[in-house]
Amino acid sequence: MKLLVRPYRPVDRDAVRALFSWGIREHIVPCFKNNMSSPLYLVITLALCVVGYIVASVFGAVVLPALWMSLVYYSGYYIYDGFVRRKLVTDMQEISRNYMSRPDDCLWVAEAEVDGRVQILGMVAVKGQQNGKEKCGELLRMIVSPTCRRMGLGHRLAQTVVDFCRERGFSKVMLETSSIQKAAVALYKKMGFRHIKNKLTSSKTLTACFCFCFFSSFPSRAKNITTRSESCRRRP
Ligand SMILES: CC(C)(COP(=O)(O)OP(=O)(O)OC[C@H]1O[C@@H](n2cnc3c(N)ncnc32)[C@H](O)[C@@H]1OP(=O)(O)O)[C@@H](O)C(=O)NCCC(=O)NCCS
Repeated sequence: MKLLVRPYRPVDRDAVRALFSWGIREHIVPCFKNNMSSPLYLVITLALCVVGYIVASVFGAVVLPALWMSLVYYSGYYIYDGFVRRKLVTDMQEISRNYMSRPDDCLWVAEAEVDGRVQILGMVAVKGQQNGKEKCGELLRMIVSPTCRRMGLGHRLAQTVVDFCRERGFSKVMLETSSIQKAAVALYKKMGFRHIKNKLTSSKTLTACFCFCFFSSFPSRAKNITTRSESCRRRP
């Protein structure tokens, strides 16, 4: 499959919004599984099972934990679905204006011909930010369609952002992701991003997602060139 990574055009809007929605909502189930496998949630589920049995026999032992699990699922749904809904009416509403109108911002799409039709199979964006005297780039909206994962596209898209930031003389690229997004964490670590801090989000809900912030700094041009050629060797 020949993939072309290019800047966003207004004609991509619907496909980009659909890919974004899908890519974020796919974390609902992993988030649920992650929560349910934590020792605390397992103890709560077991305790509810016992209490349910004491109160209403087998019926209670099934219904009470089921209600609890539904609540846990809903809390994950609430977070990810809510995020998608918010973004679809804010920055993903007018994509051209929010990502393509300033020289330090950009959104790219990866397209390929599938069954005779050109399809958007990946996306990534960057927003340039002034950080004191330095400028840095925030990588965001990184999503690759499930049909072409583990083919190097995520790496290529992230590298596009890194190159863009380097060309503009930014000091670093930063991003946030959650521990649920294991593929993303593995990708960024492999690319040399460093984990700098954890943040507890969504403290008002039952789902606690830890966020990681990574940065890839460009201390010297020589080092950058080495990094780039290593990437090229890995993925020609
Ligand atoms: C994260 C994501 C963009 C990765 O895209 P991808 O095209 O599959 O990534 P690549 O093929 O470039 O993978 C590069 C490296 O990342 C790591 N990686 C990627 N997916 C992985 C997975 N599922 N498990 C473990 N490591 C993984 C591997 O080290 C991989 O190198 P390898 O294939 O040589 O082993 C994709 O899984 C995705 O869209 N996920 C859902 C949305 C999301 O979480 N976005 C991140 C927002 S911050």
